[in-house]
Amino acid sequence: MRIIPVSSGKGGVGKTTFAMNYALALSRTHKTVLIDMDTGTSSLRNCLDTPVKKDLYHFLKKNAALKDCLTPLDTKLDPDGVFKNFSFIASPRNFIYDVVNFSDDVKLRLIDGINSIDADFVILDVKAGIDYNVIEFLPFTNTGILLFTPKNKAATVTASEMTKAILFRMIRLIFQSAEVLNRHFPNIDKNDTQLFNELIDLVEDGYDEQLKSLDDFLRMIEDEFPDKRFVHLLRHAIEHFRVYFVLNMFDSIEESTDTVIKPFVENIYSTVSDKVIIHNLGWIVRSEEIYKSTVDAVPFEIAHHYRKTKSENRKKKKDENLRSLLGLEPAKKHRKKIKTESTSEEIDHQVDLLKKMYMNGAGNDPATNLSFVTNRTLNISQSSVHRFGMRKIYTNEHFLDKFFTEMKQQPQIAENIKSIST
Ligand SMILES: Nc1ncnc2c1ncn2[C@@H]1O[C@H](COP(=O)(O)OP(=O)(O)OP(=O)(O)O)[C@@H](O)[C@H]1O
Ligand SMILES: [Mg+2]
Repeated sequence: MRIIPVSSGKGGVGKTTFAMNYALALSRTHKTVLIDMDTGTSSLRNCLDTPVKKDLYHFLKKNAALKDCLTPLDTKLDPDGVFKNFSFIASPRNFIYDVVNFSDDVKLRLIDGINSIDADFVILDVKAGIDYNVIEFLPFTNTGILLFTPKNKAATVTASEMTKAILFRMIRLIFQSAEVLNRHFPNIDKNDTQLFNELIDLVEDGYDEQLKSLDDFLRMIEDEFPDKRFVHLLRHAIEHFRVYFVLNMFDSIEESTDTVIKPFVENIYSTVSDKVIIHNLGWIVRSEEIYKSTVDAVPFEIAHHYRKTKSENRKKKKDENLRSLLGLEPAKKHRKKIKTESTSEEIDHQVDLLKKMYMNGAGNDPATNLSFVTNRTLNISQSSVHRFGMRKIYTNEHFLDKFFTEMKQQPQIAENIKSIST
C-alpha cells in the first residue's frame, strides 16, 4: 500500500479536485481509497454526486469499522463499473469539534485505521497549510504531493515553508536528546546534543545572518563539531529528503516558471538546503471542463470517460450499420497488446511523454495530464530510489527505529560506531 497525502500552502488551489481525479485515475488499474481529511468543510461529498451512508464521524465517534465507512461510486455515476476499484471516506457532514480539531486519541485511531486499509493507494485530501492536524499525516522524508498553482504566488511561498517545517520536524526528532541518540549510538555527549539543538533553533528561526540555511549549518558543524556522527546524520537526513509537486491550473511554462518553480526552488535552496531533491510530477491545465465538473458534482475523470465511451459507441454503431447495409462481415476485434515494458523502457517512455508535453502541447488537456501524473506515480512508487508514498503513517518511535536501522547500514556511520566502541 502507498499512502499519498495531497497538501498545499494555501486553500483554493484545487486540492480536492486534483485528489479526487487523481484517485479515480489510479483506480482504473489499482484499488484506491480517497479520504477527505479536510474535516469541517465536507467538500468531497459536495464534489461527488453519491449518497454517503457512513463517514468519518461513524468511524471516529460511533466505533464503526473504517471499511464500513467506505463509499463506492453511485451506479448512476459509473454504470459500467470502470471505477469499481475506487471508494472514498467522506468527512462528517457537520462541524464536530473533536473531529475538526483532532484530539490525540482521535488522531491515533485515524492513523491506525488508515494503516489498516486494504488498498493499493490511499490518497489523503488534507487541510491547506501546516498545523498540528496536518503534520502528523505527512511523511517524514517527503511531503506527498504538494499542489501549486501559478495563480496563487503566496501559496508557493507557504508551501516552501511547509517543506521546511516537515524537514525540521524530522531533524528535531532525530536529535531530540542524547538519550534517544544513545539508544542507537554509543557515547553521544549530552552537551553536543544540547548545542546542536540550540543552533538548529537559530537556523529554523531564520534571523541569524550566519545561519540562514541547513547548508550554512552543515558547513559550521563540519568544521567545529567534535562528534562527526552529527554531521553524517544531518547530511543523510537532508540528502534523502524529496519534494514532489504538481502544478494545477497550468497555463504556460513561462508563467509557472516565474510564479511557482523559481520562487519555490529559490526559497528552499536559500532557507533550507540545495541538497533537497525536488521533482515535478506533471501538471493539470486550467480547464472549463474541470470547473464545470465541480458544479455538476461529477468528477472530470468520470465525465470524460463516459463522454468518450459514448462517442466511440456512436462511431461503432454507425460502422456496424454501414457494414450491414453493404453486406460486409462485422469488423474483427483487435487484440489488446499486453504491455511488457522494463523499467528503463518505462523511464524512456516517461521522458518522451514529458518532451511531448512540452513540445507538442500534448499536455493541453486534463485527461492527458492526469494520465501522465498517474503513470509517473505508478512508476516511481515502485522505485527503490524514490520511495514515493508512505507504506504506513509512522509514529515517531517507528520512524526513529527505521531511520537508525538504515543509518547503521551507511558505511561512514558504521565505521564511526566501530571506532568508538573499540
Ligand atoms: N485545473 C482546474 N481548472 C479549472 N478550475 C479548477 C481546476 N482545479 C480546480 N478548479 C476549481 O477551483 C475551485 C477550487 O477547487 P478545490 O475546491 O478543489 O480547491 P481546494 O484546494 O480543495 O480548496 P480548499 O482549500 O477550500 O479545500 C473549484 O471551483 C474547482 O472547480
Ligand atoms: Mg478542498
